[in-house]
Parts: sequence; C-alpha cells; structure tokens
Amino acid sequence: MQKIAVIGCGTMGLGIAQIAAMQQHQVYVYDSNPIALQNAKIKLQKTLDSLVEKTKITNEQSLLYFQQVNWCEQIENISNCDLVIEAIIEDFEIKKQIFAKINQLVSPQCIIASNTSSLSITSLAACVSHPQRFIGIHFFNPAPIMPLVEIIPAIQTDTNTISTATAIVSNWKKTIVQAKDTPGFIVNRVARPYYGEAIRIYEEGIATKEQIDQIMRNEGGFRMGPFELMDFIGHDVNYAVTETVWKAFYFNSKYIPSFSQKRLVEAGYLGKKTGRGFYIENESKDKLIEVDSELSRTVFERILCMLLHEAADALYYKIASRDDIDMAMAKGVNYPKGLLQWADDFGIEKCVSILDYYFDYYHEERYRCSVLLRNMANDRINFYN
Ligand SMILES: NC(=O)c1ccc[n+]([C@@H]2O[C@H](COP(=O)([O-])OP(=O)(O)OC[C@H]3O[C@@H](n4cnc5c(N)ncnc54)[C@H](O)[C@@H]3O)[C@@H](O)[C@H]2O)c1
Repeated sequence: MQKIAVIGCGTMGLGIAQIAAMQQHQVYVYDSNPIALQNAKIKLQKTLDSLVEKTKITNEQSLLYFQQVNWCEQIENISNCDLVIEAIIEDFEIKKQIFAKINQLVSPQCIIASNTSSLSITSLAACVSHPQRFIGIHFFNPAPIMPLVEIIPAIQTDTNTISTATAIVSNWKKTIVQAKDTPGFIVNRVARPYYGEAIRIYEEGIATKEQIDQIMRNEGGFRMGPFELMDFIGHDVNYAVTETVWKAFYFNSKYIPSFSQKRLVEAGYLGKKTGRGFYIENESKDKLIEVDSELSRTVFERILCMLLHEAADALYYKIASRDDIDMAMAKGVNYPKGLLQWADDFGIEKCVSILDYYFDYYHEERYRCSVLLRNMANDRINFYN
C-alpha cells in the first residue's frame, strides 16, 4: 500500500487527496497555509458526509477514509511517501522551490509528480535530482468526479516511472491517456478552438453569444455552449490557459486570446463565481431563440472544423495516439464524441474544404489546413478503419 503525499490542498489537491484516501492509501496533505489545511479538512468531512447521505459510502467507510488523511503543517512529514503529487499555485518559481524541498526529503525511488495545467513537465523535472522519476499527472476539476487523467512523461522520465504512475492512477479507476510534454497536453490544447473560434464569430458580429451557445448545443450535442462553458470555468482560468498556450506555442495565431475575454477578466466579471461573465447570473439562457438554419449550419461547421483540425494536428505531431485524443475529449471535457471519429463521420474532405474556404476568405494562418488532413482527404483515408 503506497503512501501518497499531496502538496497544496486547494481545489485540485483536496480532490486528489480524497481520491487517494478513498482508495485506502495513507495520504499526507501539506499546504503552506494552515488556514487552507483547516478549510480542506472541513470540506473533506462535508464531502464524505454527503456521500454517506447519498448512500454511496457507509459511515464506517467515511470514518476510515477521513482517518487515512494526515494534515501536515510541516513538509518534513511527507518524507516516507512513495508518490508525491504537487498541486500548488501555478507559478514556476514557487513550484521550483517546493520541488527542491521535496527532493531533499524523499527517497530517490519516490515518484514526484506535478498536476500543473500549463507548465512544462520537463522544466519541472529539471528541479529535482533523479529527474527520471518525475512525471506529470494531470487531473481534471472536480478530480473525484472527472474520470480522465493525462499522464505526461518529461523527456527525462524513465519507462518504470511511467508504468508505475499509470498503474497507481488506473487503480484509482481513472481513464488514463498519455500525452507528449507540449503546451496544454491534449485537452487544454485541442479544446482551444471551442472557445477561440466562438469568440471570433461573436466579435465579428456573425452571431450572438446566445445563438452560438444554442447552435453548439443543438447542432453539436455539446452539453454547454462555448460562452456558458467559459462562464462556468471562470474567465480568469480560461483566459490564463489560452494566453499560456498561445505564448508557449511561440505566439501561434491559432491560439490568440481575445479582447472580449480579457476585458471580462479586467472587470472582475469572471463568470459563475462572481455572478457575471458573458452572461449575468440568473439571466435565462434556456429560452429558444430564432436562428436561421443557414447561420446555424455555418457557425456549427466553422467551430467544429477548427476542433477537428486541432485534434488532427495533435495526432500529426504525435502529442498522443488517435484513441487517446478521442478518449481525452470525451472524458475530460464531455464532448459528445471523439473528434477524430467525428472527423470521419463529418467527412474529412468536407472539413478540408471548409478550412480552405476560411483560409481564402481571411488569408489568416489560423485557417491553414494541416498536412495530415489534406493528405487524408486526397487519399480518401479515414482515422478509423
Ligand atoms: N483548478 C483547476 O481546474 C485545475 C485543473 C487541473 C490542474 N490544475 C492545476 O493544479 C494546481 C493547483 O490548482 P488549484 O486550482 O487547486 O489551486 P488553488 O489555488 O485552489 O490551490 C493551491 C493551494 O496551494 C497552496 N500553496 C501555494 N503555495 C504553496 C507552497 N509554496 N507550498 C505549499 N502549498 C502552497 C495554497 O495555499 C492553496 O491551498 C495548479 O498547478 C493548476 O494549474 C488546476
């Protein structure tokens, strides 16, 4: 039975600690802020209580799981752990300092992982001695509920670390996909056009946010339209991911952030958490609005083709396998189906011709069709079969 350390007990750290405790690991949670530790302890108790109420676990289990967690005010308490998962603030310099400390405390065999969303795993691995035991283990929020975990080896990571980390997280009944250490890994990269292209259409005045949301729900079967989803995620978080991915891809214009979203962040209109984002809280978003069928088709196909293109590009650059890319989008962000499967169903030739149309129309790099899709269209090949 491995001992697991979780560093940082905010949104993600607490969720990860809960998962590990419920899998009966001894869990050591450290946070530099004693109040955060205290709050996390109360939150965990509340979560377990509500699971008992819903008869998902028994009282005895709740007690056992709660007792599995050791709340540490001193980082030294993690020294006997077999796996350390870091989930502190997304700041390279601060993470670097914490990894230097962890490095001094744990054995050289201990696997050290980061839950970072946007930093390079390779750069973090370089902060520890024996970087071959360093790996990215990227959970999605809320960690106990979202099934997907991206495993991201650094270029220093050895195969033993990959297989051990994968085995541990698979035992936690998570769906594992493996991603190359590139910005946004799989999900946070491939999902960018869902937000970026929708905002572009809105900024150009082609359709309203209400229309775009309705179109993507009705035509695409997405659970939430892009604007309501960004409000739900929080514009601070969503904008930061977009900006990070854009910068990390050397300012590739495909990922360029928008002024519309930046202004929301500046105003503190962060979405659901502040009561106002693109929408004002309690504003009815559900009433059906008139959308011309031609507009509906155009908007849906434009956003969809940009998503299909991004997924194909991720495959072309070997960020992940075909199956992992499809699995990641279905399980990490609840897309109605995998994008590469969707490309086959939609028609790769049709996708290429739509991208070509926008490239001719705008003369912008973001619409330039990838080599892979074009070759597949020419050769009439699909991703599956
Ligand atoms: N929130 C998400 O949706 C999400 C999803 C996937 C991954 N992530 C990643 O997970 C990590 C944590 O994100 P979060 O949303 O849980 O953050 P959060 O702000 O909710 O929690 C961060 C915690 O880290 C603690 N902390 C800060 N500096 C510390 C230090 N030096 N030592 C120990 N503890 C320290 C804080 O007190 C806080 O409790 C980030 O790297 C983020 O990119 C976040």
